[in-house]
Amino acid sequence: MITIDELATFCKRKGFVYPSSEIYGGLAGFFDYGPLGVELKNRIRQEWWRTFVQQRPDVLGFDGALLSHRKVWEASGHATSFNDVFVECTKCKSRLRADHLIEERLKIKAEGLSAADVQKLIAENKLACPGCKGSFGEARAFNLMFRTFVGPRESDEHAAYLRPETAQLIFADFRLLTETSRVKLPFGVAQAGKAFRNEISPRDFLFRGREFEQMEIEFFTHPKNEDDCALFDEVASRAVNFLGAAEQKGGAKAGKATEQEGSRMGQAAGHRTAAIGELVKQKLLTRWHAYWLAQQYQWYLDLGIRAERLRIREHLKGELAHYATACFDIEYEFPFGWKELAGNAARGTFDLTQHEKMSKKPLALFDEASKEKVLPSVASEPSHGVDRAFLAFVADAYTDDNERGNVVLKLHPRLAPVQLVVCPLVSNKEPIVKKAQEIFEELRRCYVAQYDASGSIGRRYARADEIGVPLCLTVDFEALEDDTVTLRDRDSTKQVRVPVKGLRDGIYQFLIGGKLEGLGKPVA
Ligand code: GAP
Repeated sequence: MITIDELATFCKRKGFVYPSSEIYGGLAGFFDYGPLGVELKNRIRQEWWRTFVQQRPDVLGFDGALLSHRKVWEASGHATSFNDVFVECTKCKSRLRADHLIEERLKIKAEGLSAADVQKLIAENKLACPGCKGSFGEARAFNLMFRTFVGPRESDEHAAYLRPETAQLIFADFRLLTETSRVKLPFGVAQAGKAFRNEISPRDFLFRGREFEQMEIEFFTHPKNEDDCALFDEVASRAVNFLGAAEQKGGAKAGKATEQEGSRMGQAAGHRTAAIGELVKQKLLTRWHAYWLAQQYQWYLDLGIRAERLRIREHLKGELAHYATACFDIEYEFPFGWKELAGNAARGTFDLTQHEKMSKKPLALFDEASKEKVLPSVASEPSHGVDRAFLAFVADAYTDDNERGNVVLKLHPRLAPVQLVVCPLVSNKEPIVKKAQEIFEELRRCYVAQYDASGSIGRRYARADEIGVPLCLTVDFEALEDDTVTLRDRDSTKQVRVPVKGLRDGIYQFLIGGKLEGLGKPVA
């Protein structure tokens, strides 16, 4: 598999992703998306929105502001609890994220450890600075939110925070959302957009940035009905790769000491295959929680992610965020190992209760089924990172094809940043060029298409392969006689000859997952 550094170089060279502010030496944790990157990122977001908002009767769309009132984050607990622990080297003054240091050196899972636990582990294991071997000072908590001021005064009263998750605005606007839409429980609210975290050590290219995008749904149910999921049968028999807390050796037992000792990183690949229904029978999660987890998992499979590189991992108790009662990650086997691609927490009534208390405004809803006024519960919070999804899709698609002698980016056609390249076989024959340009102009009205007339046809195919274009359309001499063109499939390199009439619909069928053979006569 390609290394993460090679992937970053490839993404830069091809115009997918650049380090931000590179002209001034870069700014760690920030990236800019180039011409191909912005298309791919838009497609990921559009696919998610279409699947989880537009094609569902039970999910509302929403788009909240990036900066919000400080009280939103005080109520949510982020102002006090959204922290990572860091240690500072007394000699070279580097600041390191403590859980990463411990994971790397002691090979145990350390996310969520308190400053006191970190301090103890560092002392017990005599951990020193990896850069200069200096000793570490006291472990301290660091709040990850970016703080700024609204208006011309820089006082606490005028402080505001850039949102560290998109989710919270859904809770803060809950009353408006329910008063202005005709929704009844259970229902979800979805949002896609930027989030900001002042990560102590951003790393692994897009994986951990300081500015990134999320796509999140808060799915609300009656607090007593988290198991009452009418859609559960759709997903119950679906098989997933699963790594439970119990399988993370000792992790099922409560208590940090056991988790530190038990969740050895060496267990990383030890998942098993399980049906979603089986996990519910084992009472690991409620039906609504399981339903959404299954839908998230399936979304990646439907968009071409290899099944063997995807799994669900149950959080250990010590890892849970301050608002969560249970949480499962969807992990992908990135070039640097199995890591969180998406998450799904049960948040219960934590957030709405907090906002009710802080704002002193009632947020309870009348539930028609039970005829009760209730504060709804977040039975499930499917949460995806756009940039992490981008990284997984590109890593999964990247194929160094020795036989062809070039890279082939086997992205699902629905994600391809350029859907079609139109090539005149020769660029010096007026009728062929004219016909190719006419076809290009017609097709670019419906598809993201490029016109490429430079270099040999083999070179042009290779260029298209490298950026993941699923189809190349070639206008040759035969086209002038019988009004047909050839279509070449990126993955198989097979070609078919297709009448120009009906091309538009044929290409659409292929791009949504159809077979090339269905479009025309195979070219020998
Ligand atoms: N609302 C819940 C929440 O924010 P999270 O696990 O902290 O949960 C959800 O984040 C998703 O957001 C992650 O699974 C990941 O895909 C993405 N994400 C979180 N932090 C990120 C970062 N620093 N850089 C890139 N993506 C990140």
